[in-house]
Amino acid sequence: MVFPHGFLWGASTSAHQVEGNNVASDWWAREHGHLEGAAAVTAPSGDAADSFHRYREDMKLLADAGLTAYRFSIEWARIEPERGAFSRASLDHYKRMIGTCRDLGLIPLLTLHHFTNPAWFTREIGWKDPRSVDFFGHYVQFVLPILREVDLVGTINEPNMVATVLHDPGLDFAQGIPDADPEVTEHLLSAHQLGVGLLRSVGKKAGWSVATLGIQAEPGFEDQAAEYARTHEDAFLDASSGDDWVGVQAYTRTRIGAEGMLRPPDDAELTQTGWEFYPEALELGVRRAWERSGGRPVYVTENGIATADDSRRIAYTSSALEGLEHAIDDGIDVRSYIHWSALDNYEWGTFEPTFGLIRWRTDTFERQAKRSLGWLGDVARRNGLPA
Ligand code: BGC
Repeated sequence: MVFPHGFLWGASTSAHQVEGNNVASDWWAREHGHLEGAAAVTAPSGDAADSFHRYREDMKLLADAGLTAYRFSIEWARIEPERGAFSRASLDHYKRMIGTCRDLGLIPLLTLHHFTNPAWFTREIGWKDPRSVDFFGHYVQFVLPILREVDLVGTINEPNMVATVLHDPGLDFAQGIPDADPEVTEHLLSAHQLGVGLLRSVGKKAGWSVATLGIQAEPGFEDQAAEYARTHEDAFLDASSGDDWVGVQAYTRTRIGAEGMLRPPDDAELTQTGWEFYPEALELGVRRAWERSGGRPVYVTENGIATADDSRRIAYTSSALEGLEHAIDDGIDVRSYIHWSALDNYEWGTFEPTFGLIRWRTDTFERQAKRSLGWLGDVARRNGLPA
């Protein structure tokens, strides 16, 4: 067997993308035009998938299919909807989610920050301000008491995406990925360190998940590619070297050539997000994370594609897993494969791209498992791909 005993097979969501009515968050404010200077978004998140109420049903579908883990996030904007006003009831909500997850036999992987901030934080502080670190620390401190039944906690999801595009609501990430902001990078690194220390003080295994970009140099552009990797990826992977684990999130590759980041080749298959269908990205990301973090245990915390054709999702995942097998065969300590996403969800401004293993009706929220969920569940039960 290639996949080690106890390997975790799961699916992931993030709070704002599935819960609905996350009204105190900066994204909600942005969606409704009350975040000054923010770029407009196509569609508001609204009720999203109403997973705030339906999380049990969602988790049960995953567990019944055969999966063994669920990654989800705690929403800072619900925990601290106004500066300094912490909500015990919101905390209890997430405690119930953790309990439900455990009751259903799923190992919870928890993320403390997945792209969204409380609106007050973005308006008054923001990640460019050094005070951001302490504000994040206060939030983490408040959350610690509900983590008893959780082992694996991630501080900040894709800090490299936060440092490049998400820290500034004025940037529209449909327009590409700019350079990482050095101040934001510094504050995210400090917030992470603070978070890791707090989590470890209560016995948690702490880390964070980096967007690995599958960076490849066109011949003659090796130096440019190395520089791109340094600011967009390595600064964050290197910071994992002192953590308990490093999270890998891989979707496609990034080719660097004469015009910097190149468009996908003309004959490439594109997914609904316009990304190249490139499942090899997962193996690249895992190898990169292992190397830069100095051999920390690797958890794949996101990998998937946006497609209306579920057979392409299965094909993509199957070849991504073959790549993962090669990495494991080479001795890399990989401990999970968590698919993105459990549900079709709010893809930061639009519901059009469908990443889910589960779809739902917009009028009733009724869930329907796609074939890919059953397929991944079978892989999980077998602890490996079909022969
Ligand atoms: C993020 C998710 C997002 C997914 C697909 C990752 O960058 O963590 O929030 O939905 O990619 O774009």
